[in-house]
Amino acid sequence: MADIFEKCAAWKEVQMAKLAGHYPYFRVIEEHNETEVTIGGKRLIMACSNNYLGLAQDPRVREAASEAARKWGASTCGSRLANGTIALHDELEHRLAKFFRKEAAACFTTGFTTNLGSISALVQRHDLIFVDRMVHGSIVEGVHACYGDAKRFRHNNMEDLERQLAAAPAEAGKLIVVDGVYSAEGDLADLPRMVELKKKYGARLMSDEAHGLGVMGEGGRGACEHFGVLDDVDLVMATFSKSLGSIGGVIVGRADVINWIKHHARAMIFQASMTPPAAAAALKALEIIQQEPERRARLWDISERIHRELRGMGFDTRPSVTPVVPILVGDQAQNFIFWRKLTDAGLFVSPFTKPAAEHDLVRSVFMATHTDEQVTRALEIFQRCGREVGLIPYEKPRARVEVRMARPGATGFLSSAGEDQAVATTAVGGKLGLAAIMGNRGEPVVRRFSEAAEFLTWRALNVEGEDVRRLAQLPERLWTQRHRIRSKLMAMGMNWVSHRQKQRYADDSSDSRN
Ligand SMILES: Cc1ncc(COP(=O)(O)O)c(C=O)c1O
Repeated sequence: MADIFEKCAAWKEVQMAKLAGHYPYFRVIEEHNETEVTIGGKRLIMACSNNYLGLAQDPRVREAASEAARKWGASTCGSRLANGTIALHDELEHRLAKFFRKEAAACFTTGFTTNLGSISALVQRHDLIFVDRMVHGSIVEGVHACYGDAKRFRHNNMEDLERQLAAAPAEAGKLIVVDGVYSAEGDLADLPRMVELKKKYGARLMSDEAHGLGVMGEGGRGACEHFGVLDDVDLVMATFSKSLGSIGGVIVGRADVINWIKHHARAMIFQASMTPPAAAAALKALEIIQQEPERRARLWDISERIHRELRGMGFDTRPSVTPVVPILVGDQAQNFIFWRKLTDAGLFVSPFTKPAAEHDLVRSVFMATHTDEQVTRALEIFQRCGREVGLIPYEKPRARVEVRMARPGATGFLSSAGEDQAVATTAVGGKLGLAAIMGNRGEPVVRRFSEAAEFLTWRALNVEGEDVRRLAQLPERLWTQRHRIRSKLMAMGMNWVSHRQKQRYADDSSDSRN
């Protein structure tokens, strides 16, 4: 009989990555000073927080949260439906409905459960839900939890969406759900075209404005406002854990629809409500984003500089036209090596791999509160590390690169694809991965060999079984042995890495003694 825990015991990737010093997750922040953090006693520039406007640490927001904790306590200990709705939730819903110019709002405990709860409540048996293939995981969970039929269309491909809408039964209820701003690659949903399609095929449209709220549009109402289609988008969802510097989520729309969601979403009925400090912090931050548009302007200035200079160095910042700054690496092993170099050099960024992103990339976000000096320092680190791993050439490919950013007022495009992107890969002429590591003139030969061994071990560990089968056309006998071969490789790799790690410690301690 199979033991359900068997896979857990056999899973060694994390252990392996930790040994190699490449494990990027669950990093413990010991101290947080908004734009800089301390990890393992070392100061790093925080360059991957979604705290776009720097409001999570704003003294007014902190004070509002403290005051709410004093007045209401730490938790409501109840769901919104039962005993967990306090005056702060009610006020927040009123203010958010007004802000988005919709009839009503429903606040959930997190953005994740806002999507999960709203979608599963709305999309019922015989209904259809159309989602872009690159939507956030919380929408994917909503799709899994609903009883309707899901149709996935190719990323931002309106012909594909139209084909699927046209093929759907006319009598079925239809909901199209997209991210207004795509969180990994920073491009925008084609909301204007989707509004046309939803009208033509009798569908409803929902936009997740997690990365749009406070960032996009003249008033910070997200991609819907940016494209001038706020009134035509039926449901707008947003989360408080980004620009609002808190935690919680909201969905706004027609009063009867919001009323339905409030009474049918399991995440509303069976989940304890947002804590009083979180609700008060979101309320205060909402007030600030309306009163201080200069924060948004500063965020765009910094983001534009980062995109321009990174592309000028030869990096490929993908289709992003927003403050989300992805750097394409394209290879998982190299992505983690690049990430570690950036961390060692003093930059806190996140490596994204499948399924969070289609291509392996390092994602960074700068905040309105970063100083010019911090941005300059971060750019120097990107350049140095990018050269060391062979992502960009030593000589600058271009003197000045123009970038198009979806700043308030600049509409008409969704992504920067096809323009200055792909500079990196063409400039370096495919000299990525192993060739780059071995050809890195800046490192001693022994170190290059060690990195190459690490790279190959990592590759071996992360190759998908199906890929191997297809690539190598393995004979059946070898195919059945694949798990044993993999374990052998893993054991060899782990021995090598732990040996190397011990040597590193020995070198470090002899360095510190000298
Ligand atoms: C597009 C998108 N939607 C929803 C969420 C979920 O929000 P939260 O993390 O606040 O629960 C996120 C968070 O990363 C997101 O990026």
